[in-house]
Amino acid sequence: MRILLVSGSTRSASSNTAALRTVAATAPAGIEAPLYGGLADLPAFNPDHDEAGPAVADLRAQLAAADAVLFCTPEYAGTVPGSLKNLLDWTVGSGELYEKPLAWLNVAAPGRGEGANATMGVVLGYVGAEVIAAACLRLPLGRDAIGPDGTVVEPAARAALGGVVPAMVDHLRHRSPAADPVVAPRS
Ligand SMILES: Cc1cc2nc3c(=O)[nH]c(=O)nc-3n(C[C@H](O)[C@H](O)[C@H](O)COP(=O)(O)O)c2cc1C
Repeated sequence: MRILLVSGSTRSASSNTAALRTVAATAPAGIEAPLYGGLADLPAFNPDHDEAGPAVADLRAQLAAADAVLFCTPEYAGTVPGSLKNLLDWTVGSGELYEKPLAWLNVAAPGRGEGANATMGVVLGYVGAEVIAAACLRLPLGRDAIGPDGTVVEPAARAALGGVVPAMVDHLRHRSPAADPVVAPRS
């Protein structure tokens, strides 16, 4: 099984990317969990140029090849960063996320990040993704939870992140092929 990890942050010391790196580091043997690295290379979405070059083709190929997708994104100005919304916009017409099992993490401090959470629900519902609620995790992460290797070292948080891939795998193993998406895409 292959789970594509997508961070909404382009910051090198990102806590969201650290959470995903930890998910990859703690994934059970036999599960591939690559971190998508192309967010900053995607051109601005333009419906006139829907076949917009290698970065978009690579994004779509990586999404299509994944059995599931896991996002972790910061909140910017009450919603997700424009770069992540741009990535999602590139999938609306081409449909890579339609019925795609996916989940998202939120590592913002308590009382923060709810706008990003809400946006993920709206946009991923709009594209008709299959949300794995059991794998969605709200886990506030302080800067001191992250070690020098760029993964989460705080034991309880690391253990919680270690449970995300097993929850996704469990869902994938038991899902009906005809599982309804959360929201059908609009015509
Ligand atoms: C441009 C910008 C806008 C932000 N807006 C919000 C916001 O609306 N709500 C919030 O809770 N945090 C906001 N933040 C704080 C980030 O969400 C926070 O620093 C987060 O940890 C960054 O994630 P990262 O470490 O993965 O880069 C903002 C940060 C930036 C740079």
